[in-house]
Amino acid sequence: MNSQQSGFLDPERYVARDGSWVMPIIFSDPGLYEIEKERIFGRSWLLLGHESQLPRLGSFLRTWMGEESVLLTRDRNGKIRAHLNACRHRGYQLCQEDCGTGQRFQCRYHGWTYDGDGSLAVVPGEESIYYHEIDKRKWGLVPVARLDTYKGLIFGNFDPDACSLKAYLGDMAWYLDIILDRCAGGTELLGPQRWRIAANWKVVAENHCGDEYHVGFAHGSMFPNLGANRATPIPYAREIRPAIGHGLGANFFPDDMTPQQWLSASLGKYPPHVYQYLLRVYDETVRRLGKQRAHIGLIHGEVWPNFGMVPIVNSLRIIQPRGVNEVEMWSYCLVDRDAPAEVKAWFAGQSARTFGPAGSFEQDDASNWAAVTRSSSGIESRKHRLNLQMGIGHEERSDRIPGELGLTASEINQRGFYLRWMHDMFRWKGAP
Ligand code: FES
Ligand SMILES: [Fe+2]
Repeated sequence: MNSQQSGFLDPERYVARDGSWVMPIIFSDPGLYEIEKERIFGRSWLLLGHESQLPRLGSFLRTWMGEESVLLTRDRNGKIRAHLNACRHRGYQLCQEDCGTGQRFQCRYHGWTYDGDGSLAVVPGEESIYYHEIDKRKWGLVPVARLDTYKGLIFGNFDPDACSLKAYLGDMAWYLDIILDRCAGGTELLGPQRWRIAANWKVVAENHCGDEYHVGFAHGSMFPNLGANRATPIPYAREIRPAIGHGLGANFFPDDMTPQQWLSASLGKYPPHVYQYLLRVYDETVRRLGKQRAHIGLIHGEVWPNFGMVPIVNSLRIIQPRGVNEVEMWSYCLVDRDAPAEVKAWFAGQSARTFGPAGSFEQDDASNWAAVTRSSSGIESRKHRLNLQMGIGHEERSDRIPGELGLTASEINQRGFYLRWMHDMFRWKGAP
């Protein structure tokens, strides 16, 4: 049974106008998922990768935009390109490798061959069986309509009329700079680790954008003393909604904290070589971004729709949808490009231990996301509203930082997430 058969034809029945509830059918309905492919993954700026993953002329990376396989290349002139990874002859998936270096891509079905800029270079039998009548200039790979970068991250958008990436990120960029622009050398991505979870992509993404509430309970084994405290707002932490759809949570440490106090408050124990490195970076970050932003410790976040992050452990993830009830997690470790190798290795290990496929936190989260997705397909349970009212009407603003703020915990960001979903799916304007 799908949305039409069950009578859920009216978009207003999916999400409350103020975002205070959602209907679980949105996590399980195949018809809605088909619309999402078109109206969300077909129109949003999606994270494709990082410039560091294309280090040389001829470097390539196979990635995804929604369920579309996309080939990212650095062509022979150094320009980054993105094309559908589908041969123009029969549609065979042209590149079968995850990444590498090569000047040309030869299709394994009949041998049509493309240059790194997407142009069709060779058609076997062009003279003998095509009689020189095929116009190769017309049969290059299909380019992704829009491609742009933000401080090393590469984004693509299938919609030629989409707003600029800068406008799309809006105030989220002010926060992203804290992890992307704190050092002159920039960043790079390590990984990815990839695994599948039997969960709807929204269940996963909304957790990244705003769910501090679960931390003490779902991860109770990691925080034996935190459970009750998570329901007590943390004085120096806030949930932040830079715009509906984007969300993050952060610690705001006082300006008068010393770097040493800041470091011990931000995460706790670092091995000496990492600690010393972070102290050096701290000074550079203060110079580049100012003390206020140097004292913001990002915890978790999400750029609409499926770019998740857990910056407190350097984890960036693309939540790749694989049908209505499955995602493939692509988890990267974000590190400063000029950091010593042993510092990068420590962060990679920490990221994997916490939010890798066998990570101590990821295991708890994955089983919860799968359980929510499973119950959302029950013929009765999917018809009953789920509550998202935490903190509604108590949002605040600050003249020091952009965005609307909620306490930690608050569901301000989940409400924004589902209002954005309604807006993109149905051009529907709720009250953020
Ligand atoms: S499908 Fe690629 S050459 Fe035929
Ligand atoms: Fe979690």
